[in-house]
Amino acid sequence: MKKIIITLDGYSSCGKSTLAKQLAAELDYVYIDSGAMYRAITLYFIQNRIDWNKPEEVAQALSNIQLEFVYNPLSGSSEMNLNGENVEHMIREMLVAEKVSEVAAVGAVREFAVAQQQEMGKQKGIVMDGRDIGTTVFPHAELKIFMTADTAIRVERRFKELYAKNKNITIHEIKENLELRDYIDTNREISPLRKAEDAIILDNSQLTPEDQLKLVLQWVDDAV
Ligand code: C5P
Repeated sequence: MKKIIITLDGYSSCGKSTLAKQLAAELDYVYIDSGAMYRAITLYFIQNRIDWNKPEEVAQALSNIQLEFVYNPLSGSSEMNLNGENVEHMIREMLVAEKVSEVAAVGAVREFAVAQQQEMGKQKGIVMDGRDIGTTVFPHAELKIFMTADTAIRVERRFKELYAKNKNITIHEIKENLELRDYIDTNREISPLRKAEDAIILDNSQLTPEDQLKLVLQWVDDAV
């Protein structure tokens, strides 16, 4: 069957990566978590005390960053490597979540990430999730989905996910972080989070993961 590019954009924590992984497994496609790239860059900036408001510092730092997705047979998924080190767990921590949207608003950072994302899509057969995938990274993708869900539901989902790893986390902290990231992502100057004109809206507030997958596989059939 013809391989296509599927883009999944939307607000924080509306289940984009869950759906993207299911689709990739079902269709034998490659899944790329573009948010992991911005998170890894942010981790590098924090660890190396890079001031992302200073263009020369950012340019120098980016020239020292190598990002790679490496398959981990234990978890059964690709994990983010930063300069050869697996940082998959570290990039999910609040320290990174609190800063990632500021870093992702920097033009040079976006150019750096987008160029690599476009390279990964050259072979097609890819599902990529993020904020600007259907608008900027792959404006000609065959299937574009814009995901959304009620804020309370998104907060609850993210809380469950993070609380399993860190019992000190509070629901209030999660809600503030989601709202702040959505605000910055939607209002930044370069490639703000927007629904592409030709994207299909998927509100999964009331959908089970199984029903959602069935629905989207139908859209894939229609798109190929
Ligand atoms: O998808 P995830 O929530 O892990 O993304 C983390 C952050 O990375 C987002 O809040 C956003 O600021 C940034 N991002 C982006 N463009 C993308 C993917 C993520 O700006 N394509």
